[in-house]
Amino acid sequence: MPEVSKTFRVAKDTTASISEITDGIYRISGFVNEYGITFNQFLINDEKPTLIHTGPVGMYEGVAEKVKEVIPLEKLAYVAFLHFESDEWGGMEFLKSPDVKLLCSDLSSRLNLMGWDGVPVHHISFWDSEVLKTGRRSLRFLMTPHVHHWDSMMIFEDTTKSLFPSDLFIQPGDNKPVISDDLSKEMIQLYRGAGIFASEIPVRQTAQRLLKMGPKMTFPMHGSCIDQGSFTRYVDALMNNEFAYSGMLLGQKLEVS
Ligand SMILES: [Fe+2]
Ligand SMILES: [Fe+2]
Repeated sequence: MPEVSKTFRVAKDTTASISEITDGIYRISGFVNEYGITFNQFLINDEKPTLIHTGPVGMYEGVAEKVKEVIPLEKLAYVAFLHFESDEWGGMEFLKSPDVKLLCSDLSSRLNLMGWDGVPVHHISFWDSEVLKTGRRSLRFLMTPHVHHWDSMMIFEDTTKSLFPSDLFIQPGDNKPVISDDLSKEMIQLYRGAGIFASEIPVRQTAQRLLKMGPKMTFPMHGSCIDQGSFTRYVDALMNNEFAYSGMLLGQKLEVS
C-alpha cells in the first residue's frame, strides 16, 4: 500500500509573524520545520486591500490574525493566487469576506478554475501586462508560463517597483524579513532538489525581463525579501547554473523502471 503522500497541509499552530517591508506592504511569514522553508503572504494595504497568496491549509488562522492587525478582514478586497497550487490559495476561507474577489492568471482561470464542482468560480483573470488599480497602488500582471507551471504569473506593483514572483528567487531557512546574506547558491540547490522547473529556458527569459523592470524590492513566497542591491546575484545564479529537473522531486529521487 503506498504511503499517503504529504501535502502542503501545515500544522494549525504554525505561528506567523508580520513585518512592514515597504510603505503599506506587509510580509506575513510562518516557518515550517518539516519543509525547512517559510510560507510568506503579502498584504498590500490600500483603498482596496489585497492579499497575495494565502498560505497552505492549516495556516489560515495564523495568517488571518496578522491581517487583522492591519485591517478588518471584511475590508479585504482582493486575494490573488499566482499559480494553481495549494500553498498559493489553501486559505480559501479568506473568500468568505463579503466583498472579496479572487484574482488569477487567464490560464489559471481557463485551465483550472472552470469546470470543477465546488471550486469558487467568481474571479477576475488577467492577461500579460494588464493593470488593476487598488487605490494609490497599481498591480501589473505578468504572465510567466513554465516558470514552474503552465499558468504561472507574477505581480509587479508599479508605484513602489515591488515584485511578487511567487516561487522564483526562493531561499531555504528562516531568516530576516529582508535578506542581506547571499543565499543564491542555496536557492539553486533547493531548485535542484525540489524539481520545480522543467527547463532553465523560460526561467532565464523571465529573469532577464524582471531585471529590466528594476524591482526595488522582491517578495518571494518562500525565504526573505530581496532588495535592489542583492537582486542581481539571484538573477546571475539563475543565468549561470543548472537547476532544472533532473530526477529529484521534493528531495526524493524518482527511479523510473
Ligand atoms: Fe508553487
Ligand atoms: Fe510556493
